[in-house]
Amino acid sequence: VSELRHNRFWTLRQYPRGLPQPDDFALAEARLGEPQPGQVCVRVLYLSMDPAPRLRMDPKARLGPPLRLGDMVIGRGAGVVEHSNTPQFRPGDYVVGELGWQEHAVVAGKDLRRVDRRLGALSTHLGLLASSGLTAYFALRNCAAAREGEVVVVSAAAGSVGLAACQIALALGCRVVAIAHGAAQARFLRQQLKLAVVDDLEAAALGPALDAALPGPVDVFLDSVGGELHNQVMERINVAARAVLYGFISAYNASAGQEPEYGRIYQLIKKRAHLMGFLLADHEAHVPLARQALSAWMREGRLQAFESITAGFELVPRAFAAMFGEAEPGKHLVRIGEEPTDQQSDTECTK
Ligand SMILES: NC(=O)c1ccc[n+]([C@@H]2O[C@H](COP(=O)([O-])OP(=O)(O)OC[C@H]3O[C@@H](n4cnc5c(N)ncnc54)[C@H](OP(=O)(O)O)[C@@H]3O)[C@@H](O)[C@H]2O)c1
Repeated sequence: VSELRHNRFWTLRQYPRGLPQPDDFALAEARLGEPQPGQVCVRVLYLSMDPAPRLRMDPKARLGPPLRLGDMVIGRGAGVVEHSNTPQFRPGDYVVGELGWQEHAVVAGKDLRRVDRRLGALSTHLGLLASSGLTAYFALRNCAAAREGEVVVVSAAAGSVGLAACQIALALGCRVVAIAHGAAQARFLRQQLKLAVVDDLEAAALGPALDAALPGPVDVFLDSVGGELHNQVMERINVAARAVLYGFISAYNASAGQEPEYGRIYQLIKKRAHLMGFLLADHEAHVPLARQALSAWMREGRLQAFESITAGFELVPRAFAAMFGEAEPGKHLVRIGEEPTDQQSDTECTK
């Protein structure tokens, strides 16, 4: 299929110290492997920039085995099948999966998901119709069972999951207070979603700012930040509140062992409240229906895909590092290839 084909990919050159830097990664090139029975060759079109792989760029990784120096960097991507050695897929099919930071991926068909582009554009299958939207949807509906009129607080609200969560909570008729990471994000949330917003970088004033913004005690708290922000919201929960924890981004760039503090456990007793950990993988069985619901809200204009797209394979490390800096709100993606026109899709991987 591809004897003469060379494939470019990004490897981990050194473990990031604190915030990732473009220099932590190195560009490499190798001959593209031949797809074996059951495998397909995918031309990667979009790479998803997510905070979670950062956790494995640490020799003492907390979730999953550490990436080794020289390994290709992990990451989800979307692309088009160019050659298939399984009846599951045909050339021209659009797929998403763990493709890695590379231009072409030879992967097992069983590890890919076919994309139904009638549900949304290809890029949304890495964001709103994938882990970001699904995490927000399941955390709000299945875990917290958020109801109309309830007060919902979302931390990291201008992030990909956060923006989905704010919009879904609004669609459910909840009263939403968003916590933004800095003034620019706060402005964005106020302008785009017309929300009550608290800026968490005004750290000293976080408690009083929450008091001013909250229309009442917090019924539902979706938290991906942890630390002092978490504690301040927990001080303001209602009886029978539900707090769903799905990340702890305030500590992602700290060295392993420095966990964020969750110091308001007594509030759970006082308020007979629930604190739940969340992993999207537990909700796999309900994903198709949830994706239909998210797609319907998108069509109705109640859910908007806020995407920040960088173009160019060379810029992948820069886009990843930028995501941890003062990044644009919403889902971060790198476009590394153009979507083929329908007639084009069966050619490149084939001799
Ligand atoms: N449990 C699960 O199954 C699951 C599934 C999906 C996602 N997640 C988690 O959900 C979280 C959000 O993911 P995402 O895709 O929405 O990420 P994202 O798009 O990168 O958004 C992250 C947001 O957090 C903000 N932030 C960064 N450091 C912060 C800090 N110290 N304090 C407060 N805010 C901070 C960022 O602001 P700046 O741009 O200013 O840095 C950004 O707005 C991550 O922790 C991710 O690992 C969990």
